[in-house]
Amino acid sequence: MTETNIPLPYLGGLTAEEFLRDYWQKKPLFVRNAFPDIAYLVGKEDLLDLAQEASAESRIILEKDGKKPWELRKGPFNSKQYKQMPKSHWTLLVQAVDHYLPELADYWQKFSFIPSWRRDDVMISYAAPNGSVGKHFDQYDVFLVQGTGQRRWQLGEFCDADAQFLPNTKLRILEDMPVTFDEVVNAGDLLYVPPKLAHYGVAQNDCLTFSFGFRAPSLSHVLEHIVDTALEQTGAEALYQDIDLQAQTHGAWLNPQHLEKLQQQVLTLLNQPNILSNALAPFLSEAKYEDYEPVGEQVSSEDLVSALNDGAVICRDPASRFVYVGEQGKAQALFINGDEICFGEDVDGTFIALLVDNTRLTANDLQSHLANNANSDWLCAQIATGYFIVLMD
Ligand code: SIN
Ligand code: CO
Repeated sequence: MTETNIPLPYLGGLTAEEFLRDYWQKKPLFVRNAFPDIAYLVGKEDLLDLAQEASAESRIILEKDGKKPWELRKGPFNSKQYKQMPKSHWTLLVQAVDHYLPELADYWQKFSFIPSWRRDDVMISYAAPNGSVGKHFDQYDVFLVQGTGQRRWQLGEFCDADAQFLPNTKLRILEDMPVTFDEVVNAGDLLYVPPKLAHYGVAQNDCLTFSFGFRAPSLSHVLEHIVDTALEQTGAEALYQDIDLQAQTHGAWLNPQHLEKLQQQVLTLLNQPNILSNALAPFLSEAKYEDYEPVGEQVSSEDLVSALNDGAVICRDPASRFVYVGEQGKAQALFINGDEICFGEDVDGTFIALLVDNTRLTANDLQSHLANNANSDWLCAQIATGYFIVLMD
């Protein structure tokens, strides 16, 4: 839980409420030295190694010296390919590094005032000197945090459907970007960039950049889920009814009152109890990677308590998504990776909310909850499935 009305140094002293009111989706925010320690978490070699794994989603953008300008290569990569890279003007980007590194996933807690279903992943880029991915805009909100090295960030204006892109590349690189902001950033500096705002970051030297990226579901997907669930709940065979039909003189005339009645009956279909949460909670909890299966470990309640007493902490699986419905701070139903995860009546809704709202829960945080056997048995079962992990701190 984060208090929403206290000044947050990493937002330049704004409270969460002020940031959301004045900046979120509206204007950029730049804060020097917001996350002083983040650069130590991941180095260039770590990222190059991760991009050799088939399970990691990675790409290289080569501005110069490739087969053509702005060449896009998809990973995984190997050391031979790295050796052949030029000295400058290229970037390696690796998605979802937070899935591999709980210490990095912990940083999401800094943004816990934004619903976690809006989170996408933490992408990290390594750029050789002068490396960049071009002038561009993204559809989503992103907090760009500088790791090691320095990058010159320039911001432009908000773009619309008239934006002009460079020809001969599939990458949507803007031809032009009038500059409205220009700073060289150092390790720990944070730049929040709202959706559709043009930006351009050029590495000044060997440079790593962390992107805390958010996502927004497409409304057509939301609608599809609502409609599918409404039809499941009522049966797809529901038909239009007009028991009070009035005679009309012209048979081919489409009476606006009939259209209204059709609309009313569709709305009644959609206006069933819990339709929104039944349709959307599973959808919004779907994992980033569809085929993702967590790996669990068997642990007894006794082992769990003694591990916690020895300093272990409980973390959510960083690659899974968690959503609950009920009250804020008290779950009535829990969804993980698209599935409803049931819990018995003796398991406390406040315990479930504590587990999924937070990262790194200690013996102290959990002690009173684990005194309830139903709670600790449930947690052990979820550790066995891999939704929660026991980390020695
Ligand atoms: C980068 O890290 O090079 C690009 C990040 C972004 O512009 O969103
Ligand atoms: Co971008």
